[in-house]
Amino acid sequence: MTLYFQLLQYVHAIGAAVLLGTGAGIAFFMVRAHATRDAFVIAGVARIVVTADLVFTATAVVVQPVTGYLLAKLLGYPVFDGWIALSLILYAVTGAFWIPVVFMQIRMRNLAEDAVRGGTALPPAYHRLFWIWFAFGFPAFAAVLGIFWLMTSRPMFSLF
Ligand code: HEM
Repeated sequence: MTLYFQLLQYVHAIGAAVLLGTGAGIAFFMVRAHATRDAFVIAGVARIVVTADLVFTATAVVVQPVTGYLLAKLLGYPVFDGWIALSLILYAVTGAFWIPVVFMQIRMRNLAEDAVRGGTALPPAYHRLFWIWFAFGFPAFAAVLGIFWLMTSRPMFSLF
């Protein structure tokens, strides 16, 4: 029981680090690549970012609620009230912004690759997408920061 609990806690904490770290890392590298205005650099970075999101973020997105639910059950916390319920709402907010971002990154990668292949400038569609992608990152990241706060401080309150 103790080892099982410690293992769950460990995997949950690693998952949280992966979500925050990959999110911040991807945002940083995409913004830096965009700042070069070089389609070749943007295509290369976007290719890696798309893979990183599928491998790391997508795995953590599944692992977090599973390990979180098992932890809550072990500790006897209600899942649909208080700080866990609020975290679930914030988790849904993050997902609502993150899922479109994944598709935007794929589209930005394709547009940059087309520009490299055709030897053309990045099209207006790329620039439009970049700014939407940029804007979507703020609520998604803020929600993750909120979840971190709730998970670590575990304030006592009731939603209903
Ligand atoms: C989605 C459903 C989730 C549930 C049901 C859940 C539940 C829990 C529970 C029960 C704990 C243990 C609290 C304690 O030891 O008293 C915990 C801790 C924690 N959670 Fe979550 N969690 C979820 C998602 C997340 C997410 C998305 C993140 C971060 C992005 C996160 C980050 C953390 C952190 C940093 C801790 C503190 C470290 C620890 O005690 O293991 N959790 N969570």
